[in-house]
Amino acid sequence: MKAVIPAAGLGTRMLPLTKAQPKEMLPVARKPTIQYIIEEAYEAGIREILIITGKHKRAIEDHFDRYEHDVRNGELEKLDRILEEMTIYYVRQKRPKGLGDAILHARAFADGEPFTLLLGDTITQPACIKEAIELHEKTGKSVVSLEKVPSEKVSLYGIVRIENGRITELVEKPSPEKAPSQWAILGRYVLTPDLFDYIKEVEPDRKGEIQLTDALQLMVEDGKEVLPHFFSGRRYDIGNFLDWLRANVELALEDPMLGEDFRRIIEEALKDVR
Ligand code: G1P
Repeated sequence: MKAVIPAAGLGTRMLPLTKAQPKEMLPVARKPTIQYIIEEAYEAGIREILIITGKHKRAIEDHFDRYEHDVRNGELEKLDRILEEMTIYYVRQKRPKGLGDAILHARAFADGEPFTLLLGDTITQPACIKEAIELHEKTGKSVVSLEKVPSEKVSLYGIVRIENGRITELVEKPSPEKAPSQWAILGRYVLTPDLFDYIKEVEPDRKGEIQLTDALQLMVEDGKEVLPHFFSGRRYDIGNFLDWLRANVELALEDPMLGEDFRRIIEEALKDVR
């Protein structure tokens, strides 16, 4: 199975942090976000990746080159071992025209086969894509990973309706009144290649963007089965400040090198900082 990682978005919700650096390169504990995603794909057995980049995203490509200097660093060595086994391709989306348009750039790479899609600004623990692939392998269907979100957050995500074990409706960023449920698309998918034809049929939204959610809705309307995968692990949306901070705190607390000292720092900060 191959993986596609869209990383072309502008990251406007994270400004000014993302003024000159890609949001996928924002650090979380000791690694940039996109490194967690490459590791997730690797753990799921994926060895070929296409990253869809765009303007101001050069740092991503540089990060996955080999480090030339002789330095001992566990995380660096782990990354080098992974990169040794992986092939990473890059393609640029020339204009930010939405996630659906970005994915169209992966058509030749997918080469008529099902592929995984991992959004470049989402970290999951444990590896969500592994579970989604297992469900796809059992059924042969497209799979969309979901997490339940509180009603005030439905307008940030694609929201789905589930009936009889299938996804029957998908709405991109609905208002709480219009949301078909509180099940949100979390950024991990296994997609069958017929998706590309549906993306081509999608009308741009109010911002002129082609949404993946709308293409999946066309697929479902056409009678194709799209299965829900209920992810029970943790998911961090690095596209908003609080979730990004939470990811830093939780993953640093779990880090074998930083965890113990960092816990002390947090406890002291909670006493000292008003
Ligand atoms: C994208 C998708 C949305 C999904 C979200 C997950 O939105 O369009 O359906 O719920 O990722 O993070 P974005 O965050 O790029 O606006």
